[in-house]
Amino acid sequence: MNLPAAVQVEGRVLTVRRSGHYHVLSIAVPGIADVAKPGQFVTIAVGGENSSMLLRRAFSIASVDDRSAYGGVIEIVVSGDGPGTKWLVNRHRDDHLNLVGPLGKPYPLPKNPVHAILIGGGYGAANLPWLAKALLQRGCRIETILGAATDQKVYGQLETRRVGGLVTITTDDGSIGTQGRVTDVLPAAFDRTNAAVVYACGPMAMLQAITEMAARYHAVVQAAVEESMACGIGVCMTCVLPITDTSGVTRLVRSCTEGPVFDGASVRWNDVGKLPKDIYGAAGMSGH
Ligand SMILES: Cc1cc2nc3c(=O)[nH]c(=O)nc-3n(C[C@H](O)[C@H](O)[C@H](O)COP(=O)(O)OP(=O)(O)OC[C@H]3O[C@@H](n4cnc5c(N)ncnc54)[C@H](O)[C@@H]3O)c2cc1C
Ligand code: FES
Repeated sequence: MNLPAAVQVEGRVLTVRRSGHYHVLSIAVPGIADVAKPGQFVTIAVGGENSSMLLRRAFSIASVDDRSAYGGVIEIVVSGDGPGTKWLVNRHRDDHLNLVGPLGKPYPLPKNPVHAILIGGGYGAANLPWLAKALLQRGCRIETILGAATDQKVYGQLETRRVGGLVTITTDDGSIGTQGRVTDVLPAAFDRTNAAVVYACGPMAMLQAITEMAARYHAVVQAAVEESMACGIGVCMTCVLPITDTSGVTRLVRSCTEGPVFDGASVRWNDVGKLPKDIYGAAGMSGH
């Protein structure tokens, strides 16, 4: 897949609005909105010029408007829980932000008009309405599952319902939708749809559970991981994941450049964050 090179640009905040636990920032940013695809992300410098927060923070591009009067606008959905994201959600109209993007590889879209299930955990649901539109344009049928700890942390109910298809919600505390996890309602979704592909974004444990369940239904999982990223451009190796290729060889792969979307079946979920002994290049390996 040929992707346009990422650019580093100065963006301007247009709006910051609250959506439950999250803040949605809409940012006028030239050179990103017109080339970005669902699944890609941006990194943003936080804290201002004299900040000690040296590392950029990564955010999925939730949506784009490349025809706006501002010459390209993107939206990001931010959970303001740590120092960098708190700084970001306290920005105001006309504040400037330094962004790099679009980064990473997008969700691959099916060639044939299959049935797809989209699953988002918390802010992982941010880019699903945009992805859903792209799938519908290809003639796919979709349904969506949104999961989170509480009703305030379920993102995108309105946006998702607006796009179409059945929407099922789960929360850990039962404050909205079915009490439980997304995998509690996934078997029923497979029974209804016989889906060939699942698109999922959220915590690692959720992605692993979805991948294991989808295997029983012979469905492919396109999993967007949110592995910690320091540089976002393939230089620092903080974001590596153990991925097994079709010949059975496991390599540590950078999730910022090779991902963030991976075939769930290729990820060694139990070894994430570890250095498996049988990995390609490890001491004692004969190599391939
Ligand atoms: C591809 C990708 C897409 C993301 N999309 C979103 C999004 O749409 N909305 C959103 O709110 N957050 C998203 N995140 C997570 C977001 O980058 C972190 O929440 C943020 O970096 C935390 O910074 P902080 O200073 O507020 O908190 P801290 O926890 O203090 O962060 C300190 C450092 O830890 C790293 N870090 C902490 N938590 C995470 C995490 N969950 N994932 C990756 N790095 C982390 C950061 O890089 C940062 O350098 C995404 C992460 C990745 C990798
Ligand atoms: S974040 Fe630096 S290599 Fe991926």
